Amino acid sequence: MVDLVARFPAMVAEAWEAGLRLQPPPIPSTAVVVLGMGGSGISGDLLAALLRPTFPVPVVVIKDSRVPGFVGPQTLVFACSYSGNTEETISAYTAARRAGAPAVVITTGGVLGGLAAAHGDPVVPVPPGIPPRAALPYLLLPMVGALRHLLPSADFSGEWEEAHAVLEELAGQLGRDVPGERNPAKQLAQRLVGHLPAVYAATSDLGPVAYRWKSQLGENGKTLALWHTFSELNHNETVGWEDRTLAGRVAVVLLREPEEEPDVARRIEATREVSFSAAASVSEVVARGRGRLARLLSLVLFGDFVSVYVALLRGVDPTPVAPIDEIKRRLRGFGRPVI
Ligand code: F6R
Repeated sequence: MVDLVARFPAMVAEAWEAGLRLQPPPIPSTAVVVLGMGGSGISGDLLAALLRPTFPVPVVVIKDSRVPGFVGPQTLVFACSYSGNTEETISAYTAARRAGAPAVVITTGGVLGGLAAAHGDPVVPVPPGIPPRAALPYLLLPMVGALRHLLPSADFSGEWEEAHAVLEELAGQLGRDVPGERNPAKQLAQRLVGHLPAVYAATSDLGPVAYRWKSQLGENGKTLALWHTFSELNHNETVGWEDRTLAGRVAVVLLREPEEEPDVARRIEATREVSFSAAASVSEVVARGRGRLARLLSLVLFGDFVSVYVALLRGVDPTPVAPIDEIKRRLRGFGRPVI
């Protein structure tokens, strides 16, 4: 897993090239829907975060077996499942097709790949043999590549080179060969181990990245973590910090952007004083680069490194996800009918 995390920039480059070749079905889309669970579904969250400030069409991520009523012939659906065998995604894809929605399927194969081939839907092949959560670039970037054909505001070609350079540089700074005293990801992992990490995004635009951190700390680090976003957390979770005993066990990580609106910085400062003063530690990770692609992906890569170092510090193997496999095994055949 550590090697796979280090390969993230190379995977991004490969997936970007493949994504540019993808043509979505030519429809006037009124919504883009991404279907997917876990390590595949997060690609939809990150797509939505990337497009949110500029894209005039809603991007909705469905982590369920069913699709909402608005899905229909004018909805462009991406069905993402690394294995192609995730019951929720297969059922949701089937429901979306029944509703008349044109779909693109992103998978290594499995049942979903077979259904897509039978229906004649475009299939974006994903390289096999990688844990789904480590294959994120292969799931996310084809969607980015395809959407640029739909609307100019979704064209990130101009940001691509910067993003790749930022990721290469970051991987060089955070890699396993860089010793702890010069490696901020290893230092942050040290502060998290033995505590409950709480990953807070400075704005809701960064929320999916905080969720990725939480998910990677779970799947790679085998540890529970909280996540939330400013300013919403100031309307609920901030009160929970009044339990100073529990608060003392929490290690806060703030995900921030280089140039923040003054009210964002003021809000975070106030929350540090009012709530986080009881925390075990408060750390900050600032996104790198100027473009949105570089900023989101740099925070994702930083968190992925932290999650594998947490695993190594805890003496656990970051790769296996035994409880996910066991629950899938117990539920096999109990899902909604696929066809
Ligand atoms: C495992 C992982 C899981 C899977 C999820 C859905 O590495 O990240 O969260 O992604 O169980 O499976 P797929 O991705 O095959 O649809």
